Amino acid sequence: MRKKVIAGNWKMYMDIAGAVNLITGIKAGLNKDSLNCDVVICPPAVNLETANELVKNSPIGLGAQNMYFEDQGAFTGEISAPMLKAVGCGYVILGHSERRTIFGEKDELINKKVIKALASGLTPIFCIGETLEERENGTTFSVVKTQITEGLKGVSADDITKVIVAYEPVWAIGTGKTASPEQAQEVHKYIRTMLSEMYGSDKADSVTIQYGGSVKPENAAELLGQPDIDGALVGGACLKADSFLAIIHAV
Ligand code: PGA
Repeated sequence: MRKKVIAGNWKMYMDIAGAVNLITGIKAGLNKDSLNCDVVICPPAVNLETANELVKNSPIGLGAQNMYFEDQGAFTGEISAPMLKAVGCGYVILGHSERRTIFGEKDELINKKVIKALASGLTPIFCIGETLEERENGTTFSVVKTQITEGLKGVSADDITKVIVAYEPVWAIGTGKTASPEQAQEVHKYIRTMLSEMYGSDKADSVTIQYGGSVKPENAAELLGQPDIDGALVGGACLKADSFLAIIHAV
């Protein structure tokens, strides 16, 4: 009943020529008739306009990797929700662990961005996840709980089903270490239970919860086969059409 969504987080990779090449490759290899998930690409902001032209009339959705919560103003270096909408974005990744750790984004700021994205008609891909230290300390659930409670503060029951939650254990991102399907499922189930306590089980059952962290063609089917894993947020493996397509077709 809930949608599976495979999203590619390109991070700070690909110039325009690389973006054209990658999107052309993904489009060529997508089997539209047997596609049973939503596909989203999130290129760097400078490539969004070009990407939008290329994904028009295709099943590929477009997303950004970040945004600010004000519509406009003196915020050097930032991009707003209306600007993303104007270049054709339907999605925006928010609270990615690299934003949290390298750029110091806190739950309160991420929450403002989530609220703004929803008010602007953008689907937030809201990222949460524990560090290795937190996992080893046994605090995974409490870390995830705080990130959800703070990050989704003020999100209404009507809006929660428009949010995609991406559980990305920080220790699995870009490291080649994937959470085992059981480890991932355990946290996904916990997230859904939390959402159920906050919004009721009908709503919680409709929320797409993606797994992210070293997802690749070799492990995608097993991860995506878990009952509470509804898709993937893919970093490294989304930068080559073949591996991104293999993950999409694993759904
Ligand atoms: P990875 O990145 O697939 O390269 O681990 C995932 C992410 O950061 O979203």
